[in-house]
Amino acid sequence: MVLGDERVTRAYTVNADYWITIIRDRLDPYQTQLTDPALRELIGDCRGLEILDAGCGEGYLARELVARGAAHVDGVDTSEELILAARTHPDYRPDSMSFHHADVAALPLADKSVDLVVANRLPNGISQPAQRYIEFARVLKPSGRMILLGMHPCFYAARAERTATSTADFTLDDYFGVRTVEQRFNVAGLVSPAASVQQFYSLEHHIGMITAAGFAVTDLREPHPTKEQRQQNPWWNENFVRPLFLLLECVPLERLRR
Ligand SMILES: C[S@@+](CC[C@H](N)C(=O)[O-])C[C@H]1O[C@@H](n2cnc3c(N)ncnc32)[C@H](O)[C@@H]1O
Repeated sequence: MVLGDERVTRAYTVNADYWITIIRDRLDPYQTQLTDPALRELIGDCRGLEILDAGCGEGYLARELVARGAAHVDGVDTSEELILAARTHPDYRPDSMSFHHADVAALPLADKSVDLVVANRLPNGISQPAQRYIEFARVLKPSGRMILLGMHPCFYAARAERTATSTADFTLDDYFGVRTVEQRFNVAGLVSPAASVQQFYSLEHHIGMITAAGFAVTDLREPHPTKEQRQQNPWWNENFVRPLFLLLECVPLERLRR
């Protein structure tokens, strides 16, 4: 049985070796220089925390969080190949990490058992977009936090959209509707064997799903190159004109109402 959104899972199955190379050879400057530092800063001190790494891929973030003192990290991913890669990594520590082959919309975790949910570049859902937030709310302790890093729904444009000239190719209506982006990854000149599939919702729709699941958004960041990074490498000036990523911190609403 294929877990999760079938098209997404099949794509990651075909792309598993590609993805492992990109991560382990640190080939993606957007990840290594922008999103990872921003995520690290927002997560802050994680010593002693029980953490869910939702859509953990080959497990690099779980390993980093354990190295930084997390009590336990549960990684969950629908790709069997990536879960196997996480379990066979030399730094895998079964006493402090568990990797589950599962869908984030049906987590193999107890209610109120997690201090921090991190969804690092988990693709936007296709079949059950809101269910994952409801599941994250179920497993999170009332004192916990949820951190979501995704593509920016307002500014992220697929390659085909970037070159579209006519309004017939890309209209404003696409923003308010649901936009499906299907394209191969292209990182440092390496093109993925399969196209990834992502679904985009307007910011209003996206935040609406999060608040409907019982969360309040407490921080919003748009990871971007610093002035120093732009000076050191002018590549950023051409490749980072608008925010590509949206990083959100959310807490259970009930906590704010107490
Ligand atoms: C862009 S990769 C990010 C992986 C990892 N977080 C990282 O940053 O390297 C997205 C991951 O989400 C997983 N994924 C997609 N849909 C999922 C779902 N419904 N439940 C669990 N994992 C899912 C994919 O298999 C893939 O490993």
